[in-house]
Amino acid sequence: MSVVPVATAQRAAELRSELARAQHEYYVLDQPTLSDLDYDRLFRELQAIETEYPSLQTEDSPTHRVGAPVQSAFQSHRHLVRMLSLDNAFDQAELVAFEQSIERVVGDAIHKSGYTVELKIDGAAIALTYRDGVLVTAATRGDGTEGEDVTLNIRTIRDIPLRLRGEGHPPLMEVRGEVYLPFAGFERMNEARVAAGEPVYVNPRNAAAGSMRQLDPSITAQRPLRFFGYAAVLPDGSVPARTQWELLETLSAWGIPVAPHRQRCHTIEEAGAWAHTIEHETRAALGFAIDGGVVKVNAFSVQDELGIRNDRTPRWAVARKFAPDMAVTRLNKIDVNVGRTGVLTPFAVLEPVDVGGATVTYASLHNADQIAAKDLREGDYVQVVRAGDVIPYVLGPVPERRSGHEVPWQIPTACPKCGSPVTRYGDDVASYCTNVACPGRQLEGLVHFASKDAMDIDGLSYARIQQLLDAGLVHDCADLFDVTVAQLTSLERFAQKSAENLVAAIVAAKQQPLSRLLFGLGIRHVGAQAAQLLARHFGSLDAMMTATAQQLGDVRGIGDIIASSVAGYFDDPTARALLEKLRTHGVRFDEPNAVQADGPFTGATIALTGTLPTLSRGEAAALIEKAGGRITSSVSKKTTFVVAGEEAGSKLDKARELGVPVIDEAELLQRAAGGDGAT
Ligand code: IVH
Repeated sequence: MSVVPVATAQRAAELRSELARAQHEYYVLDQPTLSDLDYDRLFRELQAIETEYPSLQTEDSPTHRVGAPVQSAFQSHRHLVRMLSLDNAFDQAELVAFEQSIERVVGDAIHKSGYTVELKIDGAAIALTYRDGVLVTAATRGDGTEGEDVTLNIRTIRDIPLRLRGEGHPPLMEVRGEVYLPFAGFERMNEARVAAGEPVYVNPRNAAAGSMRQLDPSITAQRPLRFFGYAAVLPDGSVPARTQWELLETLSAWGIPVAPHRQRCHTIEEAGAWAHTIEHETRAALGFAIDGGVVKVNAFSVQDELGIRNDRTPRWAVARKFAPDMAVTRLNKIDVNVGRTGVLTPFAVLEPVDVGGATVTYASLHNADQIAAKDLREGDYVQVVRAGDVIPYVLGPVPERRSGHEVPWQIPTACPKCGSPVTRYGDDVASYCTNVACPGRQLEGLVHFASKDAMDIDGLSYARIQQLLDAGLVHDCADLFDVTVAQLTSLERFAQKSAENLVAAIVAAKQQPLSRLLFGLGIRHVGAQAAQLLARHFGSLDAMMTATAQQLGDVRGIGDIIASSVAGYFDDPTARALLEKLRTHGVRFDEPNAVQADGPFTGATIALTGTLPTLSRGEAAALIEKAGGRITSSVSKKTTFVVAGEEAGSKLDKARELGVPVIDEAELLQRAAGGDGAT
């Protein structure tokens, strides 16, 4: 066996902690500071070290999330303490009855304790065992006493810490919570299943439960599963906190994701009001499924006094269930919308139905393949769900309710808006209208141009744009800047004041930075982030227009597909004419936040290590990038210099070893201000 050099062992430890930090920032805090590219680079560096020196592998290494062998069956796992279920309360009266039953046992103590209220996540329950802060086992709920050992699968879920953060971890502890699939991940996963000819999952809960019970962990690893913790128990049945609220704070400090929107409530009325807001306001924007709220007695001392009913449900908690967010209704028709890129999107025209408190009439059906995979037919009765931003969503037909008159559906061969031929490109699942001047495309293009992340024109709604197009006042986005107050007031439902406001908003949009304009133009493959990278790099539209596809692709973060799409756009005479029209209207063509092409750090590759006295890591990186420099996560001979702060790690050693210059924050600031040539 090879002897492990001390520096390599140190580097492995540093990489492990940096990767764990990055995963925590990405998955739990939702505030990544490391790019995907840098993450992969560090990950591979650690993998390489561990392959060369297997003795450096540890249980909690981020490289050990995946790669376990396929199993033939799951072992059974006995829970430390029984996993309970919850009684339900369907309205405020039942919540009040819950409080009264508590008062009968503990009297006034409940009013001193109060409640903690939490989202009831609609996923699959799981128990994680941590020994001295290291994840050792994960098991499904099973019958409450015994579940299945799904450790290898659970290790692939990136927001579950393999090692707890912070200190003071109990020697042995079971953390309980819910594994779930966000709606966006659920849809992506089902789209992939459709593409692979596999049956789709009916809902995120089934998909989460199914994913957890895969015998091949590499399949689970591909599923975008997430986790929220809500409880913890020690072997003697006690809890490592005094109140439920404190427990959630503690779990969170240990790096366990805890669901948002939790609250402390003094009275059951407050708990009811919270549940009402969650059901009617919060729920639709959550992005993951909940089926209610959970009201828990806050003080564990009071919980203990209340105890468990029939060894099954606690007297100290209740699930305040919400109206189901699923309904069955008739699919009257499948219609097609034409997007700004010409993409044809089929959507369901439903018999209006109440789903989770809102009337649903339309739902996207995504593409023809999905319709075929679900075997949706016009006239079918269908299951409809509503939750999160990505829905309403048609789960599938109810075949038992078919009369035999339902009609299978096919994507039209002519564009429903302009009659031009429809085509598919390569193995793309979508069909496209081939007419660049298709009125359907114009509408969607203008909606995109005016949208929040693009030119952000307040008051220019979908309906308003439709009106402007119908009246022949605009054909493209440049025409917007010609629209007058008099023209607007001549249209229906346009008061003088709102016409004035809209024109003012359009005029103000001329000052939006180039990055927003570029995004708003709707160039294929150019999202808000790519637009920002390009705008910051080139600084002006003219500089960008003269760049070759190669030069565009040289911008960090811009791939070949985006580069050639942008180059193709600037080559198109129609696009050029449009840009000239925008220029004549005085629309801003430059980027105030541009990287200095000739900045103090242009061409320099700079590494950051340790804690700087005043700048955060993100601030230091932004400063360097603005001044033209590039951040690197590892030190090599090519590194221009290293900025080191307190507790600098092995990057500093490496810099000294290679003779790479090391500077401190003060000098960085001085050089960034142009005080000294950096390169
Ligand atoms: S507490 C005795 N809190 O709901 C306490 N459960 O219907 C046991 N669930 O099996 C559960 N979110 O899987 C609790 N914030 C939350 C929850 C939650 C979802 C699930 C859990 C449990 C089921 C009970």
